[in-house]
Amino acid sequence: MSCSLRPVGRAQRAPLERLTAAAGLFRPDEVATAVELLDDSLSGDDDYRFLGAYDRDALVGYACWGPTPGTQGTYDLYWIVVDPAWQGKGVGTALLRAVEEQLTTDDGRLIVVETSSRADYTATRAFYERRGYAAAARLPGYYAPGDDLVIYLKDLTHGVLAGATA
Ligand SMILES: CC(C)(COP(=O)(O)OP(=O)(O)OC[C@H]1O[C@@H](n2cnc3c(N)ncnc32)[C@H](O)[C@@H]1OP(=O)(O)O)[C@@H](O)C(=O)NCCC(=O)NCCS
Repeated sequence: MSCSLRPVGRAQRAPLERLTAAAGLFRPDEVATAVELLDDSLSGDDDYRFLGAYDRDALVGYACWGPTPGTQGTYDLYWIVVDPAWQGKGVGTALLRAVEEQLTTDDGRLIVVETSSRADYTATRAFYERRGYAAAARLPGYYAPGDDLVIYLKDLTHGVLAGATA
């Protein structure tokens, strides 16, 4: 992997929209939501933070995260997407690691990731599981009949969850 990690600026709005759509997993309204979160972030909303992965000047992936309202030190990873042409080359891992390092600096305790139980998310779930994210809860039929919400947690403090019930 020969890409660099930098903030996502206004110039990346259209590329971010394109690569989110190109991932092939997200509905048009979900793609629009990702762009709206970038707009919020660019206008100073600290609830949504973005980090981009670049091949020279081209955006090839990004992560979006923010503090979970009403919690202390819990953060949601809202989006992590890598251009299909760049998947499987370590970009997603580099983004995830950078987010985790940033959250550790920001006194983050827990990272929450919501994803789908659908078969086309099997590789995505494996990606999280192999990077220390544990499936902590499942809401049957949440997204659609037969499409459950699977909530993953990673404990950045290595121990806070000991004794917790899922
Ligand atoms: C999930 C995703 C962010 C991972 O990024 P990536 O750059 O492909 O991942 P890396 O190259 O760092 O790591 C590869 C690992 O991810 C897994 N993976 C998940 N989806 C993959 C894909 N489409 N292609 C290749 N590897 C994929 C591989 O099985 C591999 O696992 P392993 O290293 O534990 O054996 C990326 O594949 C992607 O954007 N997928 C579509 C969008 C998505 O599902 N986003 C998350 C939900 S919001």
